[in-house]
Amino acid sequence: MCGIVGIVGNEPVAARLVDALRRLEYRGYDSAGVATIHEGRLDRRRAEGKLYNLEKKLDEASLPGTIGIAHTRWATHGVPNEANAHPHFVEGVAVVHNGIIENFSELKDELLAEGAVFSSQTDTEVVAHLLAKYTRQGLDHRAAMLATLNRVSGAYALVVMFEDDPGTIFSARFGPPLAIGHGRGEMFLGSDAIALSPFTNEITYLVDGDCAIITHRGAEIIDYDGKPVKRKSQISQAAAFMVDKGNHRHFMEKEIYEQPEIISHALSHYIDFASHTVKAQDTPIDFAKITGLAISACGTAYLSGLVGKYWFERYARLPVEIDVASEFRYRELPLSPTQAALFISQSGETADTLASLRYCKDEGLKIGAVVNVRESTIARESDAIFPILAGPEIGVASTKAFTCQLAVLAALSIGAGRARGTVTAGDEKAMVKHLSEMPRIMSRVLNDIQPQIEALSRDLSRFKDVLYLGRGTSFPLAMEGALKLKEISYIHAEGYAAGELKHGPIALIDEHMPVIVIAPHDRFFEKTVSNMQEVAARGGKIIFITDEKGAAASKLPTMATIVLPNVDEIISPMIFSLPIQLLAYHTAVFMGTDVDQPRNLAKSVTVE
Ligand code: F6R
Repeated sequence: MCGIVGIVGNEPVAARLVDALRRLEYRGYDSAGVATIHEGRLDRRRAEGKLYNLEKKLDEASLPGTIGIAHTRWATHGVPNEANAHPHFVEGVAVVHNGIIENFSELKDELLAEGAVFSSQTDTEVVAHLLAKYTRQGLDHRAAMLATLNRVSGAYALVVMFEDDPGTIFSARFGPPLAIGHGRGEMFLGSDAIALSPFTNEITYLVDGDCAIITHRGAEIIDYDGKPVKRKSQISQAAAFMVDKGNHRHFMEKEIYEQPEIISHALSHYIDFASHTVKAQDTPIDFAKITGLAISACGTAYLSGLVGKYWFERYARLPVEIDVASEFRYRELPLSPTQAALFISQSGETADTLASLRYCKDEGLKIGAVVNVRESTIARESDAIFPILAGPEIGVASTKAFTCQLAVLAALSIGAGRARGTVTAGDEKAMVKHLSEMPRIMSRVLNDIQPQIEALSRDLSRFKDVLYLGRGTSFPLAMEGALKLKEISYIHAEGYAAGELKHGPIALIDEHMPVIVIAPHDRFFEKTVSNMQEVAARGGKIIFITDEKGAAASKLPTMATIVLPNVDEIISPMIFSLPIQLLAYHTAVFMGTDVDQPRNLAKSVTVE
């Protein structure tokens, strides 16, 4: 992960670099740093922790200069302290890096043997040392850059300045994203277009193996042999926004509460609210003809894909192969060009998801991207983009992106069913009608359950472990509930298929283990209630999330029962997402954790 920026400007850059870093803090917040060149001298400020620590340092001692680079870090090699914070300096070379230099240990041994002295534990510092070494050997900056790029392997976006060249910034991309921003007499580099949005909307995305050199006059792009490369610039849609929390305490809370409105907007791209039909998507993926679907994603996006699997199999009778991208990419899964593949990603930059996409592309499959960031690498490398239109998601724990992914997958699976003749016109109309009513139901649910959930969160925060159970599409929701709770409250939580309980996890049940059962009154309800009985018989404390019919049908004693309205199966995963999101949110707030930026996490995971 990590976010990087560079500016060759006409006015002081330190504050502008920090402004850009603020937009990149979703990529990591373990430390931050800025370096500039002023009057022929490199200087820097670095600080452990969040960006405001760096801002404090800059307030105490300003950093003049009209050229500079900056970094916000998600630690890979080396603890998150100031010494490991970027930019790294070696003999007049300054480097910021996003990614992992995989051969850093052998390079470091070589450099140590030659007498290099390292001042950090990072992999990045080897890049600065290599650049310094080649410069010392007499290579000019461009040649030193290319020589270095030809030595390092792994995944990297690099931005480099040389103290004796205060008008040029060098950069390279191999893996993590990097974009050039074109200004008037100024040039920019950044991990994404949003970081550069206050400065320019004319963006050129680098591709793997590009080395870009920016000066006041413009950008030159070459490959690692020094040959010129042409990349088109485009006008970015990433508006110059700085999203605020409105009246909410946290972005996560705001994002939970904006779901009804946002989902309605997202759905309007996929369904016709008047005729209650799914809009035909003009893409190269022909759902009528494909023989199967591969789905891959990470974390919450994977769990939305898992719900999608149930839908595509049930409604479109399409076999779905799904796996977390970190496994999928290495499985050597036999695939056929008669299949299609879907990759789900809020950021569109997740390294494992991108690698899985490339694997499927090499196997000749048509690729669809269910993404939030339309200009992302995953979107750009896909044959078809299915935008989730959730708007910027700032809270590190994904909420609205999850339900928007679900809404898009629901519409796509109904559309696929219609194309394959497995969903009748009547079924389509009925299901789309339910989807179109969903935003209104979501608003009501959010309003109704909030006080009960807030009170319940106080009780939940006393426990160390929590189990979530569900069947059918409620099984991925159980896993999502557990993921949400653990990532922001740091309470250990696991999600299981309810039927798996007796195959192991039941051994954990006692009065210290709350079990959150997600059970709408669907065709699995009776079976899930039997599993609840097994929990109750062993003294487990049950938090029952059900609907009105379910609440009336079950007589089991519970620690709490959260009752949602009766809704159709096609929308129940979205509706039942709301209590699990709120429960995690309020528990974390009650425990006083950093809800929007939980420890050790980052919003965009561009390393393996
Ligand atoms: C959890 C969460 C993560 C992401 C995962 C994939 O709340 O947000 O699990 O879902 O890192 O990220 P994207 O969707 O950007 O590929």
